[in-house]
Amino acid sequence: MGSIAYALVKMAAQLGVAACLLAMGGLYYYQDSLIYPSSLNDGRGYCATPDEYNIDYELVNLTTEDGETLQCYSMKQDSKDPSYANKTVVLLSPNAGNIGHALPIVAIFYEQFHYNVFIYSYRGYGKSTGTASEVGLKKDADRVMEYLAKEDDQYQASSIILYGRSLGGAVAIYIAATKSSYIHAMILENTFLSIRKTVPHIFPLLKYVTALVHPQWDSESLVPQIPAKIPVLLLSARKDEIVPPSHMDEIYNGLQSEYKQFDEFDDCFHNDTIMQENYWDIVYTFIKDKVNPVGL
Ligand SMILES: *[C@@H]1O[C@H](CO)[C@@H](O)[C@H](O)[C@H]1NC(C)=O
Ligand SMILES: *[C@@H]1O[C@H](CO)[C@@H](O)[C@H](O)[C@H]1NC(C)=O
Ligand SMILES: *[C@@H]1O[C@H](CO)[C@@H](O)[C@H](O)[C@H]1NC(C)=O
Repeated sequence: MGSIAYALVKMAAQLGVAACLLAMGGLYYYQDSLIYPSSLNDGRGYCATPDEYNIDYELVNLTTEDGETLQCYSMKQDSKDPSYANKTVVLLSPNAGNIGHALPIVAIFYEQFHYNVFIYSYRGYGKSTGTASEVGLKKDADRVMEYLAKEDDQYQASSIILYGRSLGGAVAIYIAATKSSYIHAMILENTFLSIRKTVPHIFPLLKYVTALVHPQWDSESLVPQIPAKIPVLLLSARKDEIVPPSHMDEIYNGLQSEYKQFDEFDDCFHNDTIMQENYWDIVYTFIKDKVNPVGL
């Protein structure tokens, strides 16, 4: 009897360990599809184009150093117009959906504020080739910034403002820390210190295995490397259910920027900050008054 009980317990324990190893193995191999859910909302299917919002655009395909093709929408204002603002907003997407889903936001920057807007699909998203990964998304950002700062006359001559929410904020921080001479300002919304520090908040049971989480997006170490001359606006939803709002506080504290502005939105969550009443006033005032040429 005793030995049967022992054998059962042993078997259960072994099964438990096996199930646990399997789960951890699954986590290890499939986490990229959890972290980069590019198929959500039909993200790999239909991708809306700016003409559907009456915006003139150019479809630009950029080839990365490792051969992936990135689909980009380039939307320029008339640089000969006397009121031309000479400012370009680069939209860095969150981790779900495709660039078509961001067009209502693009339309505000382009139609209402009259800024140039550039948006691209990360590899593995929308109509871009490849599969998403941290190394890959950084190569994509490198390629896009080369294009904007060195290959296109109008963008090159303008003040470039990075605008990134969530994962897009991590890409913005990477660019600002490694290619600061290409950019003039940065706007961050509900972004995180690192993926590893975010996972336990979303999946509490995984807090013991965060060592297995391989995408880092270690913004925490990059933030202090961003030069003081770059003004930064931080937009923080205080009820963010995905990224703990304290991550935004710590990013703010880590920034060396001579000008940094923190705006809190008390009653909102990870993805509805943009719908708050004063959101667009704050964004517009920051770009108008803190980015050269001031007042446009
Ligand atoms: C860009 O690539 C897409 C396919 O990914 C193709 O349909 C389109 O013609 C290309 N555009 C340009 C300007 O090369
Ligand atoms: C446009 O912005 C760039 C970058 O800030 C600046 O160097 C350039 O002088 C500006 N040009 C005009 C015409 O405002
Ligand atoms: C926010 O995300 C949830 C799912 O996480 C979705 O159901 C909801 O529609 C989203 N809201 C907005 C405003 O995008």
